[in-house]
Order: sequence, then C-alpha cells, then structure tokens
Amino acid sequence: MLELLPLSLLALVAHAVEHFITVGGGDGAAEFNPQWLDNVDVDDFVTFNFTTSGHTVVQTSLTLPCVFITDDGAPGLHGFASPLSAAAGTTFTIQVTNISARNSLFVSCLHPEPTYLTAIFFACGTDTHCQNGAVGGINAVEFSSSVTDAAKTSVSRGFADVPSNGTALGSGVLSRVVTSPSLASSGPSRLSPGAFVGIAIVALLLLIGAALVLRHWMVVTRVRRAHKRTEWKRRLEKRLSQVHAAGATDGEPEPAVKPAGGAEDVPRM
Ligand SMILES: *[C@@H]1O[C@H](CO)[C@@H](O)[C@H](O)[C@H]1NC(C)=O
Ligand SMILES: *[C@@H]1O[C@H](CO)[C@@H](O)[C@H](O)[C@H]1NC(C)=O
Ligand SMILES: *[C@@H]1O[C@H](CO)[C@@H](O)[C@H](O)[C@H]1NC(C)=O
Repeated sequence: MLELLPLSLLALVAHAVEHFITVGGGDGAAEFNPQWLDNVDVDDFVTFNFTTSGHTVVQTSLTLPCVFITDDGAPGLHGFASPLSAAAGTTFTIQVTNISARNSLFVSCLHPEPTYLTAIFFACGTDTHCQNGAVGGINAVEFSSSVTDAAKTSVSRGFADVPSNGTALGSGVLSRVVTSPSLASSGPSRLSPGAFVGIAIVALLLLIGAALVLRHWMVVTRVRRAHKRTEWKRRLEKRLSQVHAAGATDGEPEPAVKPAGGAEDVPRM
C-alpha cells in the first residue's frame, strides 16, 4: 500500500497521466488493447491490466521484437518484465523516464514541429504468443507493421532470460517498473484524482444531509414544546375557572387544589 503512495502523489503533483493497456485474450490473439499507445509523455505511467492469466509483458526492441532486452549497453540496464505467473486481476505499471526523438523522416513529414517522444516496445513472453502477434508499443505506432512482420519470423527462446518473478522495481530501458503484481492476487486500489473529487462531493452531501436533519429535528422540537406549553396553559385556565365557579356557589374557600392531571407533563423551562 505504501509503495503505491508515491505513484498517486507523483501523478497528482506532476500532472502525469496514467494510461491503461489490458492484457488478455487467447493464445495468439492480439492480447494488448490498445496495442499501440500513442502520445505518452515523459513521466507518464502505463499500467498493464491482466484480465486473464497466462500472459506476460516483456520489454523488447524494434529490431528484435520477440527478444527480452537483457543488456542495453550499460551494465545492469535491462528491460522491464512482469512476473511470468501474473494472476488475472493484477496490474503491472511502468513510468516513462526518457524521451528520444521520433524517426526523423516521420517528424519532417507529419509534424511541422519535431516532437520528442519515447519508443518503447513490449511483447507477451509466454510460449509463442509474440510470434503470433502479441506485440505492442508506446509512441511507436509508425513501427507497428514492421514490428508485427519481424515478430512472425522471430526466433523462439527469446524470453528464456526473463526472471520468473519479473524484474525488480526501477528496472527498464527508457522507463522504470513502478509497481509489479505480487504473486498474491488482489492489489490495493489506488485513488485517482477523480476518486478524491468523488469522495469530497459525497462528504459534502452527507454534511448537508446531516444539517437538514438537525434543522428539521430542531423545528419539530420547538413546535412540540410550544404546543405543550399552550396545552398546559389551557388546562390551568380551565382549572382556575372551575375553582372560581366552585367558590362562587359555596362561598367557601376551596380546599387545596389537587394538581391537574396534566401537570406532570409540564415541561421544565
Ligand atoms: C486497470 O486496473 C486499474 C487498477 O485496478 C483500474 O483502476 C483501471 O480502471 C483498469 N483499467 C482498465 C482499462 O481495465
Ligand atoms: C526475484 O527473485 C530473485 C532471486 O530470488 C531476487 O533476487 C529478485 O529480487 C526477485 N525479483 C523480484 C522482482 O521480486
Ligand atoms: C534514462 O534516464 C535515466 C535517468 O533519469 C538514466 O539513468 C538512464 O541511463 C537513461 N537512459 C535509458 C536508456 O534508460
């Protein structure tokens, strides 16, 4: 739970966006949805949601789309990989840390202003899912057909070096692993900014409701008390007039007046 806190705080402070890609489907199906995620900025998060078990997310490259990046030049710099046994309902989140220029031809043809974005590639490392088309990319949509074609003829065993429990937090090329699905199931839910607003609105409504109930109760109590007071007055007057009437006929003072029946109901002031 605590390790998730920085993610939500970062997302709130830096205005980083969290993008979602669902991972699921049968063997050989296009398991990533969306398969080609575009316009992901530096510091943005990409969360892979495993909707079914039996799939993985492994970082690959443009030229070798079905091979885990074990060494990216610098010592210890290797790609990200989710655990091989990621359970359905768990998530795997990476954060884009580096930006690089898009293919210069693409930039000059389609974008008058050069945009500097990251191209990150990933594939499902389970069995032959990658060769069957389970590849995808972040800011790499212009490479979609070449990567898909290269995957079909790719060597098997390209994922032999993927650790079965996934790569460590912080690992990745151009990105870093932020949360990894623990092999135990349900991950704690994260509060999005929308959820915070929702909670605030519900709290406000509850407060207004409580205030209305309190007001209603006060009005009812006041009316009831006023009603009781008039009733008590009416009874007293009635009793007094009876006493007066009795005094007029007998000419004798009435013995001590027994308190009226309703006297016990007289509220204390
Ligand atoms: C992915 O999972 C997260 C966390 O459980 C959830 O908030 C999000 O809505 C899910 N997104 C999709 C597209 O399923
Ligand atoms: C996976 O297991 C290895 C060896 O037990 C350990 O060194 C590594 O930190 C583990 N990785 C994760 C992501 O838990
Ligand atoms: C990306 O940026 C980090 C620092 O933010 C740096 O350590 C790393 O070497 C950079 N390059 C790649 C390819 O990840």
